[in-house]
Amino acid sequence: MQNENQPDIGEEYIRLHKVMSRGIKVSLFNINKFLNDGLMEKLNREGFISYVQSFSSVLHGHHMVEDEKIFPYFKDKLPEVPYPRLVSEHEIFNEGLQQINSAVDNLTKETDELESLITLKTGFDKLDGIWATHIQIENTQLYGKIRDLNMDPEDMIKIEKESKEFFQENSGPGYLVIPFVLYNLSLEDRRAIANGFPDAVTSKLLFGDWKDKWISMKPFLLE
Ligand SMILES: [Fe+2]
Repeated sequence: MQNENQPDIGEEYIRLHKVMSRGIKVSLFNINKFLNDGLMEKLNREGFISYVQSFSSVLHGHHMVEDEKIFPYFKDKLPEVPYPRLVSEHEIFNEGLQQINSAVDNLTKETDELESLITLKTGFDKLDGIWATHIQIENTQLYGKIRDLNMDPEDMIKIEKESKEFFQENSGPGYLVIPFVLYNLSLEDRRAIANGFPDAVTSKLLFGDWKDKWISMKPFLLE
Protein backbone atom coordinates (compact mmCIF):
# COMPACT_ATOMS: atom_id res chain seq x y z
CA MET A 1 0.00 0.00 0.00
CA GLN A 2 1.27 3.46 -0.85
CA ASN A 3 1.73 5.97 1.89
CA GLU A 4 2.39 9.60 1.03
CA ASN A 5 4.00 10.13 4.42
CA GLN A 6 6.66 7.50 3.91
CA PRO A 7 10.19 8.78 3.34
CA ASP A 8 11.01 9.04 -0.35
CA ILE A 9 14.64 9.37 -1.33
CA GLY A 10 13.51 10.25 -4.87
CA GLU A 11 11.92 13.52 -3.74
CA GLU A 12 15.09 14.45 -1.91
CA TYR A 13 17.22 14.00 -4.99
CA ILE A 14 14.80 15.93 -7.19
CA ARG A 15 15.19 18.77 -4.66
CA LEU A 16 18.98 18.52 -4.80
CA HIS A 17 18.80 18.86 -8.57
CA LYS A 18 16.90 22.13 -8.06
CA VAL A 19 19.78 23.39 -5.90
CA MET A 20 22.24 22.75 -8.69
CA SER A 21 19.99 24.09 -11.44
CA ARG A 22 19.90 27.39 -9.57
CA GLY A 23 23.64 27.16 -8.87
CA ILE A 24 24.42 26.92 -12.59
CA LYS A 25 22.04 29.76 -13.46
CA VAL A 26 23.29 32.15 -10.77
CA SER A 27 26.94 31.36 -11.47
CA LEU A 28 26.64 31.88 -15.23
CA PHE A 29 24.63 35.08 -14.79
CA ASN A 30 27.32 36.58 -12.57
CA ILE A 31 30.26 35.30 -14.62
CA ASN A 32 28.76 36.94 -17.71
CA LYS A 33 28.24 40.14 -15.76
CA PHE A 34 31.86 40.15 -14.53
CA LEU A 35 33.15 39.40 -18.04
CA ASN A 36 31.06 42.23 -19.39
CA ASP A 37 32.49 44.62 -16.80
CA GLY A 38 36.00 43.26 -17.40
CA LEU A 39 36.49 42.38 -13.70
CA MET A 40 34.85 40.96 -10.58
CA GLU A 41 33.08 43.20 -8.11
CA LYS A 42 35.41 43.72 -5.16
CA LEU A 43 32.54 43.77 -2.69
CA ASN A 44 31.09 40.35 -3.45
CA ARG A 45 34.25 38.69 -4.70
CA GLU A 46 34.80 36.43 -1.68
CA GLY A 47 31.12 35.49 -1.55
CA PHE A 48 31.01 34.56 -5.21
CA ILE A 49 34.14 32.41 -4.93
CA SER A 50 32.60 30.61 -1.92
CA TYR A 51 29.35 30.18 -3.83
CA VAL A 52 31.10 28.53 -6.77
CA GLN A 53 33.27 26.41 -4.45
CA SER A 54 30.16 25.19 -2.64
CA PHE A 55 28.44 24.44 -5.93
CA SER A 56 31.40 22.42 -7.14
CA SER A 57 31.60 20.47 -3.91
CA VAL A 58 27.87 19.70 -3.86
CA LEU A 59 27.81 18.57 -7.50
CA HIS A 60 30.88 16.40 -7.03
CA GLY A 61 29.47 14.79 -3.86
CA HIS A 62 26.09 14.29 -5.51
CA HIS A 63 27.54 12.46 -8.53
CA MET A 64 29.73 10.32 -6.31
CA VAL A 65 26.61 9.26 -4.40
CA GLU A 66 24.73 8.49 -7.60
CA ASP A 67 27.60 6.50 -9.12
CA GLU A 68 28.54 4.59 -6.00
CA LYS A 69 25.29 4.24 -4.03
CA ILE A 70 22.07 5.18 -5.81
CA PHE A 71 22.63 3.71 -9.27
CA PRO A 72 23.97 0.35 -8.03
CA TYR A 73 21.14 0.13 -5.47
CA PHE A 74 18.31 0.81 -7.95
CA LYS A 75 19.83 -0.98 -10.93
CA ASP A 76 17.74 -4.12 -10.48
CA LYS A 77 14.70 -2.35 -9.06
CA LEU A 78 14.45 0.11 -11.97
CA PRO A 79 16.30 -1.61 -14.84
CA GLU A 80 14.91 0.69 -17.58
CA VAL A 81 17.01 3.67 -16.44
CA PRO A 82 19.89 4.34 -18.90
CA TYR A 83 22.57 4.05 -16.18
CA PRO A 84 25.61 3.84 -18.54
CA ARG A 85 24.54 7.05 -20.25
CA LEU A 86 24.07 8.84 -16.93
CA VAL A 87 27.45 7.65 -15.63
CA SER A 88 29.23 8.76 -18.80
CA GLU A 89 27.53 12.16 -18.55
CA HIS A 90 28.89 12.42 -15.02
CA GLU A 91 32.35 12.21 -16.62
CA ILE A 92 31.51 15.28 -18.71
CA PHE A 93 30.38 17.09 -15.57
CA ASN A 94 33.69 16.14 -13.96
CA GLU A 95 35.60 17.75 -16.82
CA GLY A 96 33.57 20.92 -16.31
CA LEU A 97 34.18 20.78 -12.57
CA GLN A 98 37.94 20.46 -13.10
CA GLN A 99 37.92 23.68 -15.12
CA ILE A 100 35.76 25.34 -12.48
CA ASN A 101 38.07 24.24 -9.67
CA SER A 102 41.24 25.41 -11.36
CA ALA A 103 39.61 28.77 -12.17
CA VAL A 104 38.54 29.11 -8.53
CA ASP A 105 42.12 28.38 -7.41
CA ASN A 106 43.44 31.18 -9.61
CA LEU A 107 40.71 33.58 -8.56
CA THR A 108 41.57 32.90 -4.92
CA LYS A 109 45.22 33.67 -5.64
CA GLU A 110 44.09 36.77 -7.52
CA THR A 111 46.10 35.90 -10.62
CA ASP A 112 44.89 36.23 -14.22
CA GLU A 113 41.41 37.29 -13.26
CA LEU A 114 40.03 37.66 -16.77
CA GLU A 115 41.52 34.39 -17.96
CA SER A 116 40.16 32.60 -14.88
CA LEU A 117 36.70 34.01 -15.49
CA ILE A 118 36.81 32.70 -19.06
CA THR A 119 37.87 29.23 -17.80
CA LEU A 120 35.10 29.39 -15.21
CA LYS A 121 32.57 30.20 -17.92
CA THR A 122 33.85 27.35 -20.13
CA GLY A 123 33.39 24.93 -17.23
CA PHE A 124 29.88 26.13 -16.41
CA ASP A 125 28.87 26.16 -20.09
CA LYS A 126 29.95 22.52 -20.27
CA LEU A 127 27.64 21.66 -17.36
CA ASP A 128 24.82 23.83 -18.62
CA GLY A 129 24.91 22.14 -22.04
CA ILE A 130 23.77 18.77 -20.72
CA TRP A 131 22.34 19.50 -17.26
CA ALA A 132 18.65 19.93 -18.15
CA THR A 133 18.35 16.72 -20.19
CA HIS A 134 20.49 14.79 -17.70
CA ILE A 135 18.31 15.59 -14.70
CA GLN A 136 15.15 15.17 -16.71
CA ILE A 137 16.09 11.54 -17.33
CA GLU A 138 17.04 11.03 -13.68
CA ASN A 139 13.94 12.78 -12.34
CA THR A 140 11.41 11.05 -14.58
CA GLN A 141 12.92 7.59 -15.01
CA LEU A 142 14.56 7.09 -11.63
CA TYR A 143 13.71 9.50 -8.79
CA GLY A 144 10.07 9.99 -9.81
CA LYS A 145 9.51 6.24 -9.86
CA ILE A 146 10.92 5.30 -6.46
CA ARG A 147 7.71 5.89 -4.52
CA ASP A 148 5.86 3.45 -6.75
CA LEU A 149 8.33 0.71 -5.84
CA ASN A 150 6.60 0.60 -2.45
CA MET A 151 9.85 -0.18 -0.73
CA ASP A 152 10.00 -1.27 2.86
CA PRO A 153 10.35 2.03 4.83
CA GLU A 154 13.27 0.55 6.74
CA ASP A 155 15.15 -0.15 3.52
CA MET A 156 14.41 3.35 2.34
CA ILE A 157 15.74 4.87 5.56
CA LYS A 158 18.84 2.68 5.32
CA ILE A 159 19.78 3.73 1.78
CA GLU A 160 18.93 7.35 2.61
CA LYS A 161 21.24 7.32 5.61
CA GLU A 162 24.00 5.55 3.75
CA SER A 163 23.90 7.91 0.83
CA LYS A 164 23.74 11.00 3.06
CA GLU A 165 26.85 9.87 4.93
CA PHE A 166 28.64 9.14 1.69
CA PHE A 167 27.70 12.60 0.40
CA GLN A 168 29.15 14.20 3.52
CA GLU A 169 32.39 12.25 3.08
CA ASN A 170 32.67 13.45 -0.51
CA SER A 171 31.66 17.08 -0.13
CA GLY A 172 32.37 19.86 2.27
CA PRO A 173 33.04 21.91 4.24
CA GLY A 174 29.62 21.59 5.93
CA TYR A 175 29.58 25.27 6.91
CA LEU A 176 29.44 26.16 3.19
CA VAL A 177 27.68 23.14 1.71
CA ILE A 178 24.69 23.05 4.07
CA PRO A 179 23.77 26.75 3.77
CA PHE A 180 24.37 26.48 0.01
CA VAL A 181 21.89 23.61 -0.31
CA LEU A 182 19.25 25.22 1.92
CA TYR A 183 19.37 28.73 0.49
CA ASN A 184 19.28 27.76 -3.15
CA LEU A 185 15.83 26.31 -2.51
CA SER A 186 12.39 27.85 -2.20
CA LEU A 187 11.02 28.07 1.35
CA GLU A 188 8.83 25.03 0.85
CA ASP A 189 11.66 22.83 -0.46
CA ARG A 190 14.03 24.23 2.17
CA ARG A 191 11.66 23.23 4.97
CA ALA A 192 11.27 19.74 3.55
CA ILE A 193 15.01 19.19 3.21
CA ALA A 194 15.85 20.77 6.58
CA ASN A 195 13.55 18.22 8.23
CA GLY A 196 16.23 15.64 7.65
CA PHE A 197 18.94 17.71 9.41
CA PRO A 198 19.63 17.57 13.11
CA ASP A 199 18.40 20.67 15.04
CA ALA A 200 21.98 21.58 15.91
CA VAL A 201 22.74 22.09 12.24
CA THR A 202 19.74 24.19 11.32
CA SER A 203 19.72 26.45 14.37
CA LYS A 204 22.93 26.47 16.35
CA LEU A 205 25.53 25.92 13.65
CA LEU A 206 23.78 27.69 10.80
CA PHE A 207 23.02 30.84 12.78
CA GLY A 208 25.68 30.53 15.46
CA ASP A 209 29.25 29.47 14.82
CA TRP A 210 28.84 29.05 11.07
CA LYS A 211 27.18 32.33 10.22
CA ASP A 212 30.45 34.26 9.70
CA LYS A 213 31.70 31.61 7.32
CA TRP A 214 28.83 31.48 4.86
CA ILE A 215 27.28 34.91 5.14
CA SER A 216 29.41 36.36 2.31
CA MET A 217 27.48 34.09 -0.11
CA LYS A 218 24.23 35.83 0.84
CA PRO A 219 23.98 38.14 -2.20
CA PHE A 220 23.78 34.99 -4.35
CA LEU A 221 21.34 33.03 -2.18
CA LEU A 222 17.56 33.18 -1.75
CA GLU A 223 15.99 34.88 1.25
FE1 LIG B 1 21.60 13.64 -10.19
